[in-house]
Amino acid sequence: MKISVIGTGYVGLVTGVVFAHLGHNVICMDKNEEKIEKLKNGIMPIYEPGLEEMANKSYREGRLFYTTSIKDAVEKSEIIFIAVDTMPKKNWQTDLSSVKKVAADIGRYINGYKIVVNKSTVPVGTGDLVGKIIKKNMKKKFHFDIVSNPEFLREGQAIYDTLQPDRIIIGSESVEAAMKIVELYQGMNSVIKITKLKSAELIKYASNSFLGMKISFINSIADLAEITGSDVTEIAEGMGLDKRIGREFLNAGIGYGGSCFPKDIGSLIYTAKSLGYDFGILKEVKKVNDKRVKRFVERIKKVTKLTNRKVGILGLSFKPNTDDIREAPSLKLIELLLKDKAKLKVYDPVAMENVKKVLKNKVEYSKDLYNCVDGTDLVILVTEWDVFKNADLKRIKDGMKGDLFFDGRNVYDPQIMKSLGFRYFSVGR
Ligand code: UDX
Repeated sequence: MKISVIGTGYVGLVTGVVFAHLGHNVICMDKNEEKIEKLKNGIMPIYEPGLEEMANKSYREGRLFYTTSIKDAVEKSEIIFIAVDTMPKKNWQTDLSSVKKVAADIGRYINGYKIVVNKSTVPVGTGDLVGKIIKKNMKKKFHFDIVSNPEFLREGQAIYDTLQPDRIIIGSESVEAAMKIVELYQGMNSVIKITKLKSAELIKYASNSFLGMKISFINSIADLAEITGSDVTEIAEGMGLDKRIGREFLNAGIGYGGSCFPKDIGSLIYTAKSLGYDFGILKEVKKVNDKRVKRFVERIKKVTKLTNRKVGILGLSFKPNTDDIREAPSLKLIELLLKDKAKLKVYDPVAMENVKKVLKNKVEYSKDLYNCVDGTDLVILVTEWDVFKNADLKRIKDGMKGDLFFDGRNVYDPQIMKSLGFRYFSVGR
């Protein structure tokens, strides 16, 4: 099938590349010329395991095309995916200006029947809005259908998630359009659920909010575990054995970050409010998460002063296997530590370049994990990269000046840390 994907951000690029891998003809369109030029030369704008090989193979074999012309993309395809940015405004309202602009362009260049599919995470009702804008901008009347097909991929395992999703949600008021999109996914071994357009739009927000709620819930249990002297990991395991609850997303820590959870939870609270519904439970989820880093720093300050202390920070990306630092707990943590006049050394396996752009010379950048901890009074682990999990702990201890280790992700065994001579603090244990 002839597909175009508008927007080559995380979701757009991965979607386009995977559809091309499945044998479809795909045009990936982006207004950013530099990005498109780089893609044509095989250079990916994001770090994602497996993406580069898959994209370049389809490009070489002539199934994947890159362009900056939306006119071309619209005219040459029957199915158009909208996967442009939907950044939040300051009040967490979703900024739909990019989506609206693409809708207007689709209206302007439409030259036959099209199925317009929303992949971007957009508030309920956006499908209808896109339809209205397309109609308003059409010079000649053509038939089109609107579909909502939300994306559930996780950064760091985007290719895997897109090829083997738990479920594929297709929301549309047109059965024919929905069936065409079902065809597109043929060959994938996943449950496909066809829903109303507006249900599909809400499923994405409801899912991410629920996962965020699981994290804030276990983080609150972790706080209680610290007061009572219990162990949050054991509690999570005990809870997770109940099939109705499940073990996943019950890892306590320094809080959730990234480009999705904070944005989607904030947006759902905003949408609900604008519809006259007070989503109290979700407001609390956000509140718990917003306080996470501050609480962690307060805990550190109960053990040691920070002024002029040398601190090694391990992990900067919002989670492992990505270079993404959007809403990363590490940045909030660094801001608070700098306020307390700590001297910071930082290290991350892939996010260093992104962090340098934000923090400039406010911190010292280390070339590897051991270089980062050498000579420090205390070490803080923020992101649970494998390289930290498999680190030579004795080497870390020997290189440090002090003995304090604060683990924001419960990576190590407290007994082992103690036996190595660390004063070790983790979350809820
Ligand atoms: C998330 C959703 O999982 C995905 O389905 C959706 O499409 C986009 O948003 P992503 O943001 O890539 O994906 O990361 P995810 O792996 O879900 O982690 C989100 C945040 O929660 C990270 O900061 C992670 O560290 C944190 N987290 C996750 C916890 O603190 N504890 C957990 O148990 C799980």
